Amino acid sequence: MKTLVVYSSRTGNTRMIAEAVHSVMPDGAGIFPVRDAPDPSPYDFVALGFWVDKGGPDADMAEYLGSVRGKRVGLFGTLGAWPDSEHARKAMQAAVDRAEGNTVLGTFLCQGKVDPKLLAAMAKMGGNSPHPMTEERKARLEEAARHPDAADCENARRVFTDIVKNLER
Ligand SMILES: Cc1cc2nc3c(=O)[nH]c(=O)nc-3n(C[C@H](O)[C@H](O)[C@H](O)COP(=O)(O)O)c2cc1C
Repeated sequence: MKTLVVYSSRTGNTRMIAEAVHSVMPDGAGIFPVRDAPDPSPYDFVALGFWVDKGGPDADMAEYLGSVRGKRVGLFGTLGAWPDSEHARKAMQAAVDRAEGNTVLGTFLCQGKVDPKLLAAMAKMGGNSPHPMTEERKARLEEAARHPDAADCENARRVFTDIVKNLER
């Protein structure tokens, strides 16, 4: 079975999860950043990872997803929001919608630290920021700063181990 992991990652969070996912793929699985990703046609299963930008999969992965058709796929992502929030659910649904024409066998989302440069730029905007700092937001960003952690990597491995087991059955 030929398997492939393709991920998009600006600051390394999604790459970390991609490496965890890759570690449970069958021997010989490929792993590529999206910009170097091969044509997915020869692969039996493709794991696709994105970071959440503007409430959906980032543009590079959204574009690549558009080139994957008729495959069995698994989707994973990292985001600043709580992974069990409505925002997270919608972000994953946007990725699933983008993967239309494929069979989605599983999904995984976890938090990932937000680029400090983005946070600094927003702090400078103060009250004009579209995301003003509240106690809730502060707590969420502080938690995000600790992710992905070892438990996130383990959870991602578990989700993709199950997918691979079912594929090999
Ligand atoms: C420009 C930008 C936009 C973002 N938009 C969102 C968003 O809409 N929702 C969200 O939950 N997190 C958002 N984030 C947070 C990232 O999705 C999160 O930090 C992710 O783990 C980054 O992954 P990476 O390290 O693989 O690039 C944004 C981050 C940046 C830099």
